[in-house]
Amino acid sequence: MLDASGHAVKRVDRHPAQVSVTRVAVLCDDRTVNSSTLRQAAAGLARARTMVDLRQAEGNRWERGLRRARNIADVRELARRRLPPMIFDFTDGGAEDEVTLGRNSSGFGRWRFQPRSLVDVRTVDTSTTVMGQPISLPVVLSPCGLARLNHPDGERAAARAAGRAGTVFALSTGASCSIEDVAEAAAGGPLWMQLYVWRDRGVVKELIARARDAGYVGCVLTVDVPTVGNRERDAAHGMALPPRITPRNVVSSATRPGWWWPFITSPEVTFEIVRDKAAGSRDAGTLGAYASSQIDPGVTWDDLAWMVDAWDGNFAIKGVMRPGDAVRAVEAGVQAVIVSNHGGRQLDHAVSPIDVLADVVAAVDGRAEVILDGGVRRGTDVCKALALGAQAVMVGRPYMWGLGAGGEAGVDRVLEILRGEITRTLTLLGCPTVADLDRSFVATLP
Ligand SMILES: Cc1cc2nc3c(=O)[nH]c(=O)nc-3n(C[C@H](O)[C@H](O)[C@H](O)COP(=O)(O)O)c2cc1C
Repeated sequence: MLDASGHAVKRVDRHPAQVSVTRVAVLCDDRTVNSSTLRQAAAGLARARTMVDLRQAEGNRWERGLRRARNIADVRELARRRLPPMIFDFTDGGAEDEVTLGRNSSGFGRWRFQPRSLVDVRTVDTSTTVMGQPISLPVVLSPCGLARLNHPDGERAAARAAGRAGTVFALSTGASCSIEDVAEAAAGGPLWMQLYVWRDRGVVKELIARARDAGYVGCVLTVDVPTVGNRERDAAHGMALPPRITPRNVVSSATRPGWWWPFITSPEVTFEIVRDKAAGSRDAGTLGAYASSQIDPGVTWDDLAWMVDAWDGNFAIKGVMRPGDAVRAVEAGVQAVIVSNHGGRQLDHAVSPIDVLADVVAAVDGRAEVILDGGVRRGTDVCKALALGAQAVMVGRPYMWGLGAGGEAGVDRVLEILRGEITRTLTLLGCPTVADLDRSFVATLP
């Protein structure tokens, strides 16, 4: 007999009088498929269904990209594709030939691990403290100005993500969200306020009071900006504040509607922290000029002492690269020395934080915490810095790329990647806690 599609079907009944079909064989293209084969195929299909993870296909392309990002380099690549080149380069770039920018990361390669054998690492603990603040992973978010250029939620999103990950967010003086808004967004997550010693000490005092009132638990004084570094990528794009479409960048910007639309439909990006300082103007250019005019190249160690007194709480100095300077800072009363060259954005050809870390740690000799800032892209970098004596590390670009790639979810993903990498590295090192990391775990080649 033939079935509906014309294939020959043979019925084999158990009993000629029985109507029910006990075995059906379908003769199809000269191949016989019997019921057990069909059952097998059905089971195979059911198995295959469990292998198909449709969650991978959920969400828009950026959400999918973030989920698939294996490491910080992948997140950077997503940000590069999503942001207009002038905005991406504003975050990504460094000073002049970017020699220091490159070495900040490559310098970690000088150090090799010497793992410990046969240690029980069933439980690995990434938590520690920084300036007395318990944190669940030894990575603090560095102060980065104008985060809303990368995503309309800017610093608010980064602070929320940091709080959720159980770590500190440091707010830049050049931030595009206000001190108070970020405190509200962080919802109790620990915050530090980054300041400069500006010409107008009255304004500095005002910012200190606002940050204290808003509940910030630490102050970071940045000391490596006696003038602004020469960032040639910005000059090449004609980068201006607020960003403008110019004949030079029109084509490259037009290809990033996913950035432009939220950018033009949300409030103007400006220097929120000083928004009342230019006779009512909120224009980023005017406020940027005000902030630049406040940079004081005459700041000295006396000013550090003044700032430490004025803050009267947990205080970190950021931008120290010499052991002797670290000692002076400790004598001035800081709780933490942040070894940093501003992520290679200031003095090109400066040494890298990872290169001088061990000497600074030796000079400070336990009288303050030492934090490494700059070039960290992997959990292995974090573990190397901690093994060399850092209490924690700070990251700037990684979370700014996260913001550019996917806002708050992007920062979440960056912290998740780093947490995973740190945990795996500690496990492979035979080092169950961050506190156990010491110099014995790293070596340099002769
Ligand atoms: C876009 C951008 C803006 C920054 N703005 C500031 C700032 O306002 N104040 C400051 O102390 N450091 C600032 N930094 C430097 C960071 O705090 C940090 O030192 C640097 O990013 C660390 O290097 P990394 O990006 O390799 O992690 C900025 C960095 C970037 C990338």
